[in-house]
Amino acid sequence: MKSSPQPRRSRRPQRTVSIIGTGSYVPERILTNRDLEQLVETSDEWILTRTGISERRIAAPDEATSDMATKAAIAAMKQAEVEPEEIDLIIVATVTPDMFFPATACWVQKKIGAVRAACFDVSAACSGFLYAMEIAQQFISTHVYNTVLIVGADKLSAIVNWSDRNTCVLFGDGAGAAILRNRGDSHGVIATHMGSDGEFTDILYMPGGGSRCPTTPENVHQNLNTIKMLGKETYKQAVTAMSNAADRALEAAGLKYDDIACVIPHQANMRIIEAIAHRMNLPIEKFYINLEKYGNTSAAAVAIALDEAHRAGRFSIGDYILLVVFGGGLTWASSVIQW
Ligand code: ACO
Repeated sequence: MKSSPQPRRSRRPQRTVSIIGTGSYVPERILTNRDLEQLVETSDEWILTRTGISERRIAAPDEATSDMATKAAIAAMKQAEVEPEEIDLIIVATVTPDMFFPATACWVQKKIGAVRAACFDVSAACSGFLYAMEIAQQFISTHVYNTVLIVGADKLSAIVNWSDRNTCVLFGDGAGAAILRNRGDSHGVIATHMGSDGEFTDILYMPGGGSRCPTTPENVHQNLNTIKMLGKETYKQAVTAMSNAADRALEAAGLKYDDIACVIPHQANMRIIEAIAHRMNLPIEKFYINLEKYGNTSAAAVAIALDEAHRAGRFSIGDYILLVVFGGGLTWASSVIQW
């Protein structure tokens, strides 16, 4: 076994941390709203008007979260021109790990051959990718690590109750990744804000499968190993938390909403995005939105959107972009980046 680089404490000035490559992956299989009409009492019209979602991707039965994460990671490494041996740390944000342990990040390490990396997972539901980004930026800015791979990946189809129309129409599978490094110029992550409110642990959660309610035939029969959500309450909290988180990061960056070239929000529901656009007084055209194609892919959502927006040329070098997310926990986070 090769030895990992030893973390070093440094008194050197903090470094700027840049995203030097992004990648994403979604499974081939498409599940449309019309397909869902065959599963539960719903309609294409209901789903589209309430959420903005038309279709979502569903992973193959033998396709695990780490398989999707690996494909996204390889795409990001290719774009960043980074070799696996250069990666010091891998963080995978997910609520659907391949297994309780080892960490999905360790599976990714094995699959990409990042033999020098330290690896762990982050559990912050849909906010996980920005939590991972903040952790990565702390390690890089303080000179502990140079090159960090972060991935947001989820296979929510594995924990959805396919007979519950309140939730099964909302979610999909996928992965997005980014490579972070100090690039030697002033561009990079300018400000980040993270927050949580454990008072709302019971509005969006999966009760079964953990130590409180272990997996037993009876618990599985009662669908306790699937997502439970109070939709209206989640919606309300999402709008407030995302707007406040965005305000906080922008304030810390010393910028105004008008300065932002592109907003990349969590892709949960079009109405949530419209509500935060209204609060920010920004035209919806400034938002990168792909939820009509993928639904809510949890930790992957903002990561896939970042990769697609980047590849589509939605922002250029020097532009300010704002990422803002919200998820179970409750958790939220935002980040202002100068590209
Ligand atoms: N098809 C048809 N009818 C449905 C469906 C469906 N798929 N789902 C619910 N309904 C019904 C309900 O049963 C209810 O019927 P009732 O009045 O007879 O009881 C009716 O539609 C209205 O339900 P509401 O809850 O009032 O619908 P609402 O307008 O709030 O939209 C939705 C529901 C889309 C879930 C919305 O509340 C929402 O988007 N909430 C946030 C969800 C979210 O973002 N979750 C994830 C965020 S965090 C993370 O990403 C993990």
